Amino acid sequence: MEAWEGRLAKDGGTPVIEPGSLPTVSDASGRTFGEEELAELTEVIRSGRLGRNEGTKVKVFEQAFARRWGVPHATASTSGTAALHLAIGAINPDPGDEIITTPITDFGTIIPILMQNAVPVFADIDPETWCLDPASVEQRITERTRAIILVHLFGRPADPDPILDIARRYGLRVIEDCSQAFLTESKGRLVGTIGDIGCFSFQQSKHMSCGDGGMTITKDEELAWRIRLFQDKGWPREGNLRTHLFLSPNYRMTELQGAVGLAQLKKLDDVVRRREERARQLTLALSDVPELRPIRLGPGDRASYWLYPMHVDTESLGISTKVLAYALQQEGLPARAGYVEPMYKVPAIRDRHTYGRSGYPFVGVRKEEIIYPDGLCPHAEAMAERMILLAWNEGFTEEHVRAIASGLKKVVTYYRQQKHQGGAAG
Ligand SMILES: Cc1ncc(COP(=O)(O)O)c(C=O)c1O
Repeated sequence: MEAWEGRLAKDGGTPVIEPGSLPTVSDASGRTFGEEELAELTEVIRSGRLGRNEGTKVKVFEQAFARRWGVPHATASTSGTAALHLAIGAINPDPGDEIITTPITDFGTIIPILMQNAVPVFADIDPETWCLDPASVEQRITERTRAIILVHLFGRPADPDPILDIARRYGLRVIEDCSQAFLTESKGRLVGTIGDIGCFSFQQSKHMSCGDGGMTITKDEELAWRIRLFQDKGWPREGNLRTHLFLSPNYRMTELQGAVGLAQLKKLDDVVRRREERARQLTLALSDVPELRPIRLGPGDRASYWLYPMHVDTESLGISTKVLAYALQQEGLPARAGYVEPMYKVPAIRDRHTYGRSGYPFVGVRKEEIIYPDGLCPHAEAMAERMILLAWNEGFTEEHVRAIASGLKKVVTYYRQQKHQGGAAG
């Protein structure tokens, strides 16, 4: 008899996984910090040069990052949000110009648009990939559209080609938000190198981390120049003249972050490989569970599994994803229903909590008010009812993944049987 047979933990049975025994999502990088990071940090402290313009670590980190992604330019900054702000700052929209993106993302994708007083325009997601639906993107284009931000969600590649095709036809820039997608590939190409600019986050839960930090990469010389200046008060350091060429913040990464980032970069290939291997193990284990469908990848695609998402056939199970997630959590699984609410529903946007009482840029910047009605992106709004998300970690062992698969099977089998017996599930 398998360990999981019997009552569900939510009904008083024994949980499949002992609470607290799995590494959490924020341990993702913490588990790989060690002597290498310490050695780099010690060098920085001994040098007495902690600022990027005085030291060498951030510069070396940028060069190494650019090399790994095969691009000529990489600029470090203080967060993923900052990395995206550098991208928007480089594109330099006029206030009121529009940037199209997905509502299913971290708020850090949206903040930089608003900081430049541009208007975020939300296109719907493809319910299969949970990333931007190109048809919806094209519908949202107006004469004020300047750029599209494509988010490679959960570490799976969003297909960039239809988005690039639209961008070319309408003369738009494409920013790839790769905060969750280190070494992710689409048709054999590293994401972040396919559009005009790629942005990364080194926040604690990411594949590589220095606590907080960001990187912005590009092949475009002109964009690279603006990105670099936007990171440092618009200050052209190469000349002797102390001056500021345009309005921009100070997003300089410190040498301490650069030192840790440099050591983490050397571990990244291994981290992604381990995440991928464990994900493959779980996907295989779930091949006889038709109600749960892991992501499918096309030829040449590679997912780096920041999280492990699954489509759920709630009709066959006769329960909601919320009920399913609760039962899984009681079994000790790091599961939740959906990811985030669509970004146009967060108070900062819905209630226009932006600049004092102005409501900019939703009012006052353009002649018309910017309104995001309910139902704007139906697939994004329904996402939480159709998917379960598991926290993922390169520190998971084969044993951990076997336990996760057992937990999923135990709960799904229970509800499947309930449905067949016509019993009340809940
Ligand atoms: C898709 C996405 N975009 C942007 C960000 C913002 O990054 P940060 O938290 O480093 O500012 C994050 C992560 O937190 C993210 O996951």
